[in-house]
Amino acid sequence: MSDRLYTVETGTSAQVVAKLLRVLFPDAATVLDMTYGSGSFWRGTDTGLDVTGIDINPQRARDVCADFTRLPFRDDAFDVTIFDPPYHTDMGRGKASVMGARFGAYPSLDRLYTAVVEGCFEADRVSRLGMIVKVQDYVHSSQLVEMTQWVRDALERPAYQRVDIVRPHKLLDPKWGDQLSAYSNSATFLAFRHGDQRHIRRRRPALEVAS
Ligand SMILES: C[S@@+](CC[C@H](N)C(=O)[O-])C[C@H]1O[C@@H](n2cnc3c(N)ncnc32)[C@H](O)[C@@H]1O
Repeated sequence: MSDRLYTVETGTSAQVVAKLLRVLFPDAATVLDMTYGSGSFWRGTDTGLDVTGIDINPQRARDVCADFTRLPFRDDAFDVTIFDPPYHTDMGRGKASVMGARFGAYPSLDRLYTAVVEGCFEADRVSRLGMIVKVQDYVHSSQLVEMTQWVRDALERPAYQRVDIVRPHKLLDPKWGDQLSAYSNSATFLAFRHGDQRHIRRRRPALEVAS
């Protein structure tokens, strides 16, 4: 596995997150993972960063149990925020409910949209350097849901970088009937930086030594 970052990646989420942080935020020392979940963004990699993990589910909140729409942190409290909101709404059927329990699904697309937008505002507010959001574009109830557009709308500026993570061998359910749309086998990481948007060399500031 190359340690170079590409616009389309096939590695694990943790491998891609480590590369995104190294290449796009080399000047970061602290990270807030706003949706820690099972911690898969950090499994098997060593970023050398100080990571704080929160989740609304107390069993998944590694450090702090909190709501990403109302973060209990001051402005610029972390160098980088990472936000991986639920993708799907819970349709109240077996599969959706299992997904809901695992990923914290919202009851409707409107509620999910509002939560994602509010989460983006908070991710932007508490990050000193910028943020990374992982979302998915997919067809739901016969319509294309473009979460990438929700994020751009919320932040009102172009992304600093987009990287897609692809699963070439997505499992298909034999019960699915005629194919009417493309099956989603990818997710998108959007990175946003504050300040200078040029892709230039950046360094972590040297620690101040008390005299
Ligand atoms: C897509 S999963 C995140 C997966 C995670 N990146 C991992 O590696 O396991 C979404 C997570 O967001 C959490 N969540 C849902 N709504 C939330 C909220 N309002 N505030 C904080 N966490 C929330 C869920 O409990 C779930 O763990």
